[in-house]
Amino acid sequence: MADLSTTYLGLQLTSPVITGSSGLTDKVEKIIELEKNGAGAVVLKSIFEEEITMEYEQMLREEAPSRYKDDYLDYFDYKIKEVNLNNYLNLIIDAKKKTEIPIIGSINCNSSHEWTFFARKIEEAGADAIELNVFILPSDLTRTADGIEKTFLEIIQNIKNTVNIPIAVKMSYYFSNLAAFLQELSRTQIAGLVLFNRSYSPDIDLDKMEVIGTNVLSTPKELPTSLRWIGIMANRVKCDLAASTGIHDGQAVVKQLLAGANAVQVVSALYEHGVDYLKQMLGDVENWMDEKGYEKIDDFRGMLSQEQFVNPSLYERVQFMKYFSDRDK
Ligand SMILES: Cc1cc2nc3c(=O)[nH]c(=O)nc-3n(C[C@H](O)[C@H](O)[C@H](O)COP(=O)(O)O)c2cc1C
Repeated sequence: MADLSTTYLGLQLTSPVITGSSGLTDKVEKIIELEKNGAGAVVLKSIFEEEITMEYEQMLREEAPSRYKDDYLDYFDYKIKEVNLNNYLNLIIDAKKKTEIPIIGSINCNSSHEWTFFARKIEEAGADAIELNVFILPSDLTRTADGIEKTFLEIIQNIKNTVNIPIAVKMSYYFSNLAAFLQELSRTQIAGLVLFNRSYSPDIDLDKMEVIGTNVLSTPKELPTSLRWIGIMANRVKCDLAASTGIHDGQAVVKQLLAGANAVQVVSALYEHGVDYLKQMLGDVENWMDEKGYEKIDDFRGMLSQEQFVNPSLYERVQFMKYFSDRDK
């Protein structure tokens, strides 16, 4: 029987399938179920500074008489942060008590001091690692590409100076020189890169003439973007790689491992099919390994990364120049 255990961020995982940050991981009961169904680890739902600030501003608007605003500011800042953060920290403490799998905290902040404050608290609560959900859409016309990259490096440096647990950075692909930047990030002594986060997608409702959100869940067709970049970056970064987005079945897990991922993160497939679908995904990975005669993940991991592959240009081919003419022959 194939052995699915592996390591990610220096942590021992019973399987390479991690439940990604989402509402699937926001309660201890859900984490227990995920563990029962074979999740190798969970990334908790992100704690968002923005959310805390929004609640805080609303409270301020509703309750603070203007002459006392400064006092209220201090008081509510403290109070809301304490309640939200405490709930988050209690979830970590509880999950560590009731499960054996690694618990990875996730943070998304706007201001640099809050990144480090949250990270320290998450480490103190006993999380095994932290995933930084840094998402900067390059839509600000006044910001340079260099400036955005510098922000990433500063956040990482500050957090590295604050905590000792492993850090993973969850990335988007909106970078002008993605491969070089991923490599540069990996030299900051982070333990892992997660390729990629998936952003809120806009659409337009033609009847209501409104911009709306759409496609909350991914589809299997979204697999190739992360597959390409895992394949290109495997063995070219000084940290682990986790694949995320569009992984909907056991075959997709195997493909990402062959491309060189150390682990994969799954969210939409579990929202769609339920948490017990994890068992089926892992069973399919096991069957594939048995059929091919692989005993453990490292027997085949990275076998089809760009570095290993006989025709590495296939990861980089971007045009369809000859697709139909070849097929029609
Ligand atoms: C309902 C929902 C909530 C999510 N919440 C978070 C979050 O709090 N933090 C985060 O980093 N990613 C969040 N994500 C993104 C997922 O972690 C993941 O990166 C994305 O869904 C792509 O993976 P998938 O194709 O397996 O769904 C969320 C996704 C969904 C669908």
